[in-house]
Amino acid sequence: MCGIVGYIGCEQAGPFLLDGLERLEYRGYDSAGVCLNTGSELFVKKAKGKLKVLKDLTENGKTLHGTVGIGHTRWATHGEPSDVNAHPHLSESGRFAVVHNGIIENYQQLKDYLTSKGIAFRSETDTEVIAQLIEYYYKGDLVDTVIKVLEKLEGSYALGVISKDNPDEIIAVRKESPLIIGLGENENYLASDVTAILSRTKTILRLENNEIAILGRDGVKIITTDKDEVHKDTETVEWDVSAAEKGGYEHFMFKEIMEQPTAIAETISPRIRNGRVVLDEIKLSDEELKQFTKINILACGSAYHVGVVAKYIFEKMLRIPVEADLASEFRYRDPIINDKTLTIVISQSGETADTKEAMKEAQRRGSHVISIVNVVGSAIACESDDVIYTWAGPEIAVATTKAYSTQLAVIYLMALYFGEKLGTVVPEEYTALVNELEMLPAKIEKVLENKAKIQYLASKYFNSRDIFFIGRNIDYALSLEGSLKLKEISYIHSEAYAAGELKHGTISLIEKGTPVIALVTHEELIGKMVSNIEEVKTRGAQVMCIACDDHPEMEQVGQTIFIPKVCDMLLPSLAVIPLQLFAYYVASLKGCDIDKPRNLAKSVTVE
Ligand code: G6P
Repeated sequence: MCGIVGYIGCEQAGPFLLDGLERLEYRGYDSAGVCLNTGSELFVKKAKGKLKVLKDLTENGKTLHGTVGIGHTRWATHGEPSDVNAHPHLSESGRFAVVHNGIIENYQQLKDYLTSKGIAFRSETDTEVIAQLIEYYYKGDLVDTVIKVLEKLEGSYALGVISKDNPDEIIAVRKESPLIIGLGENENYLASDVTAILSRTKTILRLENNEIAILGRDGVKIITTDKDEVHKDTETVEWDVSAAEKGGYEHFMFKEIMEQPTAIAETISPRIRNGRVVLDEIKLSDEELKQFTKINILACGSAYHVGVVAKYIFEKMLRIPVEADLASEFRYRDPIINDKTLTIVISQSGETADTKEAMKEAQRRGSHVISIVNVVGSAIACESDDVIYTWAGPEIAVATTKAYSTQLAVIYLMALYFGEKLGTVVPEEYTALVNELEMLPAKIEKVLENKAKIQYLASKYFNSRDIFFIGRNIDYALSLEGSLKLKEISYIHSEAYAAGELKHGTISLIEKGTPVIALVTHEELIGKMVSNIEEVKTRGAQVMCIACDDHPEMEQVGQTIFIPKVCDMLLPSLAVIPLQLFAYYVASLKGCDIDKPRNLAKSVTVE
């Protein structure tokens, strides 16, 4: 969480800083700020609220002066969102400015020490201690000082530092939190994520933990904390700048929902060759694969919900016990896991703190980790044993849609790949499933075409206080995602329930008019689901169903959105589309800030 940008060049830095921050706003949006070296001072402008406030105050950065500067968009951890707690933070005399993403765990101790030396703090943040420490230790060399300060810091950080006395340098360093350098002509950039700099350059350098970058106008030098120079190869980013723009859509979320057929095709197609699933990314031999007695899936948020779907699919197709675990819980429960356990880690950003630490815990216990990640070169991608990328392109809306769908697509590929190797999927079934998988993008297009009906149903329910989602088996796993999507962007209270569990408590919440969304796609369980639907209808619920089009009779049970019939494994990819659209339309009718829901951030880099 929190986004960092930096610019050093020959142009005015302001417009780039503001534009870059706008593209990073998904990382946090409770306040924002910039600091530029004007030649005579470090000039800081900060504002509580979304970036728009700062943009308006600075006329999109045009009123700012200076060709070197840093900027920050914040998701508050230490200290409420306010002008004073917004970054950049200045040292006491105003000679040094710092932007920070991460958490300094020993900040209170450092603050107490500096306070005892007579240094006055302005903010409640952990970050301000870094600026104050730099000034406290400064003896004329900024790089040496930053290295000394790093020795004092515990926790995670990506930092950008500028000094009043040196208008020709930005110092950047990272530990655990992401940071990349963009290379231009006579100008260079700093950013938490490539989306911030795509409009300027596609040539980047990735900073590793504890590497220090010294950005000048004519070049970038990277050194270790022992001041040894590090020579790195540049990378060329493949994402196109238009992929990180709205392209005429009102919201990124809607654009990303509509992009799902393409994103899934790009994730699947290169991995199906001559009717076979080929996952070159997995380095395990067939013998090693056969050794595993358990699969462990670790993730947070929607990625965890993919894990819950995967549990049903893998157990059915591979006949191996699967545990889907919330990464934040797994870390602290002394899990039973060893080298006979295959761990699958799922993360769009590849930098979620809990997921990353859970992965390391699994590795420490001897488990082989395969990650499913969207952001190329992210920490989880680099530190896992094997990585399978989802080719979803940049996802900007906080509520994930296309990343969720492409993660599901990778799960299908893995189920087929492992199923073939373990001999648990018979050849005819394998061929049929691969064929169906290849047709999935076209079927998703069909579901998307039905959006008017979903919009109509959203208009009926958008004033509701509570909305329940029910399902059995994979439909239950999917109902978790439907409910999360709705509550995170529309702020309507929602719960997802295994339909068979309703009678054990939740049904007491159903009253006249309560909307219940029932997922009824699983052929074998339609009868059971219809009984559960009748139970809630009897108590006054209004029921909306999602069912396959080979069961037109479902229209008599509740207002029904039909999806094309496909094999069980692929059903979640079709059924999730109406759930995403429903949440989107409800939030839109309520006038919510769909792409930036309150209190949330897309990239959760703190525990
Ligand atoms: C946040 C996002 C979710 C995402 C979760 C895990 O809560 O808003 O959309 O599912 O983090 O993020 P990851 O990047 O690890 O998939």
